[in-house]
Amino acid sequence: MKKTLIIGAKGTLGQALVKVFQKDKNFKVIAWDKEDIDITREKEVHKKISFLHPEIILNAAGYNAVDECEKDKHEYILAKKVNGQAPGYLALAAKKNKAVLVHYSSDYVFDGKPSIPEPSGCSHSCATCSLHQDFQPKIGFQEDDHVSPINKYGETKLLGEKNVQKNMKKFYLIRLSRLFGEKAVSFNSKKSFFDMMLELSKTKKTLQVIDDEIGCFTYAPDLAKKTKEIIDSQKPFGIYHIVNDGFASWYDGAQELFSLNKQKIEIVPVESKAFSRPAKRPFLSILINSKTNPLRDWREALKEHLKNG
Ligand SMILES: NC(=O)c1ccc[n+]([C@@H]2O[C@H](COP(=O)([O-])OP(=O)(O)OC[C@H]3O[C@@H](n4cnc5c(N)ncnc54)[C@H](OP(=O)(O)O)[C@@H]3O)[C@@H](O)[C@H]2O)c1
Repeated sequence: MKKTLIIGAKGTLGQALVKVFQKDKNFKVIAWDKEDIDITREKEVHKKISFLHPEIILNAAGYNAVDECEKDKHEYILAKKVNGQAPGYLALAAKKNKAVLVHYSSDYVFDGKPSIPEPSGCSHSCATCSLHQDFQPKIGFQEDDHVSPINKYGETKLLGEKNVQKNMKKFYLIRLSRLFGEKAVSFNSKKSFFDMMLELSKTKKTLQVIDDEIGCFTYAPDLAKKTKEIIDSQKPFGIYHIVNDGFASWYDGAQELFSLNKQKIEIVPVESKAFSRPAKRPFLSILINSKTNPLRDWREALKEHLKNG
């Protein structure tokens, strides 16, 4: 049995990881959250992890208040500690204990302006030549694309990525976006977009929803299963992009949600500038997974999520 430590076990992703790994008898799961370990304390991290001596560490702990850390200096410092420095401590502790580390990051390490690929053989930038006619480029960000964080939260996540890469080799760094899943028990856990929509629909007849920001949803149980698959199949260490298949605007997401839920509510598409949010958001933020089989379409995942209540 592989001793597997899951940190952030009370969060949306953490609790899905616990469920998936606990079902497999090959893994002995130890589930920790903030009250068991504070990952921002370097000495505590080394002491507790060395004592436990796990073979695998899954770090699902994170600071996710994107707007708070953009506008508040103290929150930004906290975000840098949790998302930036702590993954480096975990990487060193994992290395010392010869453990594999899985760490999760975000599409916000990119700027939301992916380069548009040209068909091979086309030497000029055009949209009408014959080479373009059958060319269906995958537009989005590949695992090794240039990173350029869109906001302060993205900066803190990138710092975490760099600290993991600097401190060890046996890591899986998995980027995801727009996470949803069973409501987390942890106090500060980030509410998913779908949960926010359902909550708003209890008191409002009309909802304005942004339709000019495109991205990919990630269903926590699907990501958890894929994480185990990556470990089980001993995939090469490195960066992975794991999101559900297909992309959508927030407006598309809301439409699908209320249609599946058979809820009658008016949804009005609006531009992102209709809302003033402290942190910038990407207009086009599609994570391209070029290393593993794709996850199912986000609509199927959402259907299952709603069925499970
Ligand atoms: N949610 C998204 O849409 C999204 C998008 C892209 C990437 N991600 C990444 O995916 C991962 C999982 O996100 P999530 O949404 O599942 O997070 P979450 O629900 O907010 O859960 C994070 C957990 O980490 C705990 N934690 C916070 N600070 C800690 C510390 N210093 N030491 C130990 N534990 C600590 C939290 O406890 P408290 O609640 O008590 O603080 C919480 O239980 C994170 O790396 C996140 O950055 C998430």
